Amino acid sequence: MEHKQKVIVIDFGGQYNQLVARRVRENHVYCEITSYRTPLDKIKEMDPMGIILTGGPNSVFEEDSATAPRELFELGVPVLGLCYGAQLMMHVLGGSVDHAPEREYGKTPLTVDDEKSPLFAGLPENSIVWMSHNDYIKTPAAGFHITSHTANCPVASAEDPSRNLYAIQFHPEVLHTEYGKDILKNFVIDVCGCSGDWQMSSFAEKTIKELKEKIGDGKALCALSGGVDSSVAAVLLSKAIGKNLTCVFVDHGLLRKDEGDMVSRVFGPEGPYELNFVRVDAKDLFYSKLAGVTEPEKKRKIIGEEFIRVFEHEAKKIGKVDYLVQGTIYPDVVESGLGGESATIKSHHNVGGLPDYVDFKEIVEPLRYLFKDEVRAVGLHLGIPRELVMRQPFPGPGLGIRIIGDVTEEKVKIVQDADAIFREEMEKAGLNKTAGQYFAALTNMRSVGVMGDERTYDYAIALRAVNTVDFMTADIVEIPYEVLKTVTSRIINEVSHVNRVLYDITSKPPGTIEFE
Ligand code: XMP
Repeated sequence: MEHKQKVIVIDFGGQYNQLVARRVRENHVYCEITSYRTPLDKIKEMDPMGIILTGGPNSVFEEDSATAPRELFELGVPVLGLCYGAQLMMHVLGGSVDHAPEREYGKTPLTVDDEKSPLFAGLPENSIVWMSHNDYIKTPAAGFHITSHTANCPVASAEDPSRNLYAIQFHPEVLHTEYGKDILKNFVIDVCGCSGDWQMSSFAEKTIKELKEKIGDGKALCALSGGVDSSVAAVLLSKAIGKNLTCVFVDHGLLRKDEGDMVSRVFGPEGPYELNFVRVDAKDLFYSKLAGVTEPEKKRKIIGEEFIRVFEHEAKKIGKVDYLVQGTIYPDVVESGLGGESATIKSHHNVGGLPDYVDFKEIVEPLRYLFKDEVRAVGLHLGIPRELVMRQPFPGPGLGIRIIGDVTEEKVKIVQDADAIFREEMEKAGLNKTAGQYFAALTNMRSVGVMGDERTYDYAIALRAVNTVDFMTADIVEIPYEVLKTVTSRIINEVSHVNRVLYDITSKPPGTIEFE
C-alpha cells in the first residue's frame, strides 16, 4: 500500500515505539515503524518525509548497541532522535554522551532556551516533560546548539536546523509530557512539511481500489468472527470483489447472547453487503468436544483446533481460492516482531491461527498497517453498525473460557443471560462510555441460598469490569454500588440457577482480564 507522505519511526527497542507512531498519525500523517536493522537503501526506497529514532534499552557505549549509519543523517530528510535516538545521533555525529551523574526518571520541569526552535514554536518557556534515562548528552555535536535543559540535564534538546537534525532527551510521545503532542506536530508538519491529509475515508477508498486491481476476478475466503478486525476486513473485500468473497462464520455456540444473529443480520443475505455468507452452526459439535473438560488451556486448545477443522471443512466445499483474508492489524505485526524491534510481548491467541490446509495462493491483510482505533474509524466510515465496530475485545474461545470448569449448554445460557443484563445496566448507567472491557463469567461454585421459602443450591456469577490502555495491565472500574445492586438483583431474579453475584476487584496483575 503506497502512501505519498510518510514518516518512518526507526525502532531501537524502546517501550513507547508504537506510541510514537500513534502520535504521528494523530496529525493525519501516515507513519510506519521499522527496525534499526533496516538497511539504509531500504529506508531511502521508503522515501520518507521525516525520520524519528525511538528510545531504546541500550547505552551507546555498549559493544553490540543498536546503531545507525552516519549517512542516515545526511539524506537531507529531517531526523528527530528521541532519548536513546537523541544520544545516538550525537554519538554518531561526534558529540559526547556520558553516564549521567543522576539518573532522571519521571515528570521533570523543562526550560526552553531557544524560543526560536521550530520544535518549541508556540510553547511556553517552562513545562513538564517525561524523562527516563541513565546516560545523557554532555556536549552536542558540532553544528548543534542547545534548545532546552532541565535541572539534571544540560542538553534536554539540541538541534541543527541547517541540517534539519533534532535531538530530544525526553519522551514527547508520552502523555505526561505536557506539550509532547505539539512538539511532534511541529516536527511532522512544520519541519518535515507533511500536509496532514491522511484520512481513514481516503484509506478505505484507496484500499478498495487497490484490492480490486490486485484480486480482479480472483476468489477470496475470509473467516469472519464478528469481531471488529475481521468484520472491517470483510467489508473492504466485499466492496472490492463482491460475490467473489466468501465469508465463513463459525458459530461455536460460545458467543455472547444474540451475537451470532447480529453477525448474520449484518453479513447475511438480508444485510447491506454483497458477498457469499456461510454461517456454520457448530454448537453441538463444540459442546460435545468440550464435555467434561475443565482445564482452561485444554479448553482453549480444543476450541481452536475444532474451529480450524470446521473452517477447513467449509473451505473444501468452496474449492480452490486465490486469497485468504486475514484481519491482522498493526499491533499484531509489531508485537510479533515483524515490523519493529520489540520482543514478542504477548502470545497470539486468536482462534485457530493460520489454516494451512486451505488451498490458496496468497494472504491479504488490508488492515496490516492500522491501529485498532483507525480500524474502527474505517468501519464506521464503511457504515458497519456501531455496536459491531465499537465491540469490546472478546476472546476467540469465547464463553468457553468464561465458564469455569466444564462447559455445558445450560451453563452457556446462564452466562449469556447474566452478561446481557450486566451490559444493559452498564449502558443505562452510562458506564459503557468509560469502562474498557466488562463481562460476566460463571464461577463453578455453587452455594446455598434462599429464595421465597425455598432453599437453593445454585451458581455464583462473577462480574468483571476493567480499564486498560494496553491490555498488559488493568485497573478495575469502580462501579457505583447502586448499579451493582441493580445488576445483582436482576441477574438473580431473571437468570435461573444463579443465587449469588460477586464483583471481582482484582487488578491485572495479579489477575488477568479474563476470568478463566
Ligand atoms: P488477559 O485475560 O490475558 O486478556 O488479561 C488480555 C486481553 O486479551 C483478550 N483475550 C483474547 N483475545 N483471543 C483473543 O482474540 C483470545 O484467545 C483471548 N484471550 C484473552 C482479553 O479479552 C483481553 O482483552
